[in-house]
Amino acid sequence: MNPIHAGKLSKRYGELQAVDSLDLDVDGEIYGLLGPNGSGKTTTVNMLTTMLSITSGEASVCGYDVRTEAKRVRECISYIPQYIAADIRLTGRENVELFAELYGIRGRSERRRKAEECLEIMGLLDRADDITKSYSGGMNRRLEIAQALVHDPRVLFLDEPTVGLDVSGRRSIWEHILKLKRSGMTIFVTTHQMEEAEHYCNRVGIIRLGHKVNEGRPSDLTDSMGDVVTIGSDGDVPASLIGRAEILKQEDREVTLLPDDSLTLEEIIRVYEADGRKVFSTAKRRPTLEDVYLTSINKGTEDIGTLDRNQYRNMMRRR
Ligand SMILES: Nc1ncnc2c1ncn2[C@@H]1O[C@H](COP(=O)(O)OP(=O)(O)OP(=O)(O)O)[C@@H](O)[C@H]1O
Ligand SMILES: [Mg+2]
Repeated sequence: MNPIHAGKLSKRYGELQAVDSLDLDVDGEIYGLLGPNGSGKTTTVNMLTTMLSITSGEASVCGYDVRTEAKRVRECISYIPQYIAADIRLTGRENVELFAELYGIRGRSERRRKAEECLEIMGLLDRADDITKSYSGGMNRRLEIAQALVHDPRVLFLDEPTVGLDVSGRRSIWEHILKLKRSGMTIFVTTHQMEEAEHYCNRVGIIRLGHKVNEGRPSDLTDSMGDVVTIGSDGDVPASLIGRAEILKQEDREVTLLPDDSLTLEEIIRVYEADGRKVFSTAKRRPTLEDVYLTSINKGTEDIGTLDRNQYRNMMRRR
């Protein structure tokens, strides 16, 4: 049995189907769950970590059923939610030792040893005796992960681990996550950071309205997609291109398009000019994970109705 398994996992809040028949199998890898705001990522993590009851379907973590063996699941995982805070009046070491105590590690010397080991893994040993209030955002996040490691979890869940951190803080968090994965841990993260997911996740799943719409290795997902085209112009996308090219992103005067196989860049430029638009810039490039993400969450919006579609797409792209 994979460390994380879910079959037709579903959660309903009243009328709202927040998670809809989700199948997941994650084993010894970094798996990234991607999706727009409100697509059901946190709800999924909360069900897998036994924080939330499931409405239907099944899920197991470390081989234990999240419904009937919740205590065992909790013993083999750690969950770092988006907003938790270490006690700023304590030092880093004291914070981790406190967690060791909460997790029931017996003996003060054993707690000291374990705290030291976890602080070392997360690169915090040289600041361990400083008060946490003096830590940077990135160090605080690393401290939270250090705390989560004290009971040797086999599976680690992280909800948006790098949000609010600067470039070096982000890189450091991911380098540490990679190190944990190399030591054999299974890591499940949610994120809105496409570049980070593309670079660090072994596989990603993309969900929309609680439903998985794509999954795979980032490189396989980008390889399976045709080139994308960006056009800088003084007007909207010509109506005659709609249906022949999908609009992935529109920012100020630049639009990113995924053209049909039959449509060349030269032809797109001709259509723009024939429509009286001035084309300032053009580029053709291989897709990134962000492009895969955008086309994946666009899929199926046809059933929403033409009038609402633009509004819906804008909503989906809010982040
Ligand atoms: N306790 C709750 N009661 C009712 N609806 C809820 C509850 N928690 C979440 N929801 C709804 O379920 C849907 C999924 O929410 P969830 O928090 O799982 O999304 P998310 O993908 O984590 O979003 P974000 O990217 O903003 O963190 C949303 O429509 C949300 O409003
Ligand atoms: Mg969330």
